[in-house]
Amino acid sequence: MENPTENKTIIVTGGAGFIGSHVVRLMVNKYPNYHIVNLDALTYAGNLENLRDIEEKPNYTFEKADITEPEAIREIFIRYKPDGVIHLAAESHVDRSIKDPLAFVNTNVLGTIHLLNACREFWGNETHGKRFYHISTDEVYGTLGEDGLFTEETPYDPNSPYSASKASSDHFVRAYGETYGLPYVITNCSNNYGSFQFPEKLIPLFINNIINEKPLPVYGDGNYTRDWLFVEDHAIAIDLVYHLGQNGETYNIGGFNEWKNIDLVKVLCSLMDQKLNRSPGTSENLITYVKDRPGHDKRYAIDASKINRELGWKPSVTFEEGLAKTIDWYLNNGDWLKNVTSGNYRDYYKKMYG
Ligand code: NAD
Ligand code: TYD
Repeated sequence: MENPTENKTIIVTGGAGFIGSHVVRLMVNKYPNYHIVNLDALTYAGNLENLRDIEEKPNYTFEKADITEPEAIREIFIRYKPDGVIHLAAESHVDRSIKDPLAFVNTNVLGTIHLLNACREFWGNETHGKRFYHISTDEVYGTLGEDGLFTEETPYDPNSPYSASKASSDHFVRAYGETYGLPYVITNCSNNYGSFQFPEKLIPLFINNIINEKPLPVYGDGNYTRDWLFVEDHAIAIDLVYHLGQNGETYNIGGFNEWKNIDLVKVLCSLMDQKLNRSPGTSENLITYVKDRPGHDKRYAIDASKINRELGWKPSVTFEEGLAKTIDWYLNNGDWLKNVTSGNYRDYYKKMYG
């Protein structure tokens, strides 16, 4: 749909977060003729440290704005006249959604609708070359038994407030396509891991706890299965779908890489022992089984054959490579980890941006 040699302005929402920062980095470096506007509210999960290496590039701009504030969004649309929106801004952690579902409705549902309204208002019927790309999750499909995979046809069946809010926003995107002719694509991806992930999600939390010799809280019996994808491969898929995906289509993205939590944690423990020169078994001794997460989905697994068949995408790194790179990154970026866990960076942003 898009010609990457044209000049374009693309708003990436949530560009200071984990996946968003990888998407921003990839696009700023790959497309010098694009203007990438990173629209982010800098919540606890957003961190401009994630983008230090590209922040001075002439084709990059950061705008601190909250997608739950329609006037702020309007103003940014007037200023930048975007050709496209790649929408990643969200509350993204299931455990937080169990404590505070409304925050997820506000950002994930209402925030998405405000963005859709801005696109409708500014693009009107002139939608040639325009695109709203909504980044979603495999969690909207609910949970699987021992067998089977989520396909693009699997009915939505979300179980957590997080997945319910993402499912709702997916439906709104689709509805704006059907009702108002808004050009959109949606992708539903499995669990990501890699650099710059806030240490509340399984892999960076456990790496951080192992470094600090703190307990590793495994929920329930640990026999929950997730599919894991290296974040840089997700960013490559997002670039591909933005440019080559068909309007009105959904694509599942996954790592062809299922792990039971407890098996993954044991591999992580063993790799960490080697990297930290600790004797074998040291990190495994930190495993502590804790009370299960309510509504915990048993198994996620993705059939990513459509994006492979139609757009030629497949993961470029194996799990062994991706995990080794990830561990090395956290070990080499201790200051980043300390900063995001200490809250220093939030005080700094408060001072800088109010
Ligand atoms: P993240 O929590 O690391 O980052 C979210 C970003 O959105 C942060 O920079 C935050 O400041 C920003 N944000 C939050 N609320 C905002 C608001 N009201 N206005 C503007 N900005 C706001 O999330 P992530 O893990 O990078 O996930 C990005 C997207 O990908 C989300 O939509 C998520 O649902 C989806 N996703 C994530 C995964 C995963 O494994 N992490 C898997 C599939 C899909
Ligand atoms: P998480 O990284 O929160 O991603 P999601 O819930 O979106 O899949 O969790 C991944 C899996 O790890 C999930 O089954 C919950 C489990 N988990 C733990 O066992 N302990 C933890 O401390 C965390 C954060 C997750």
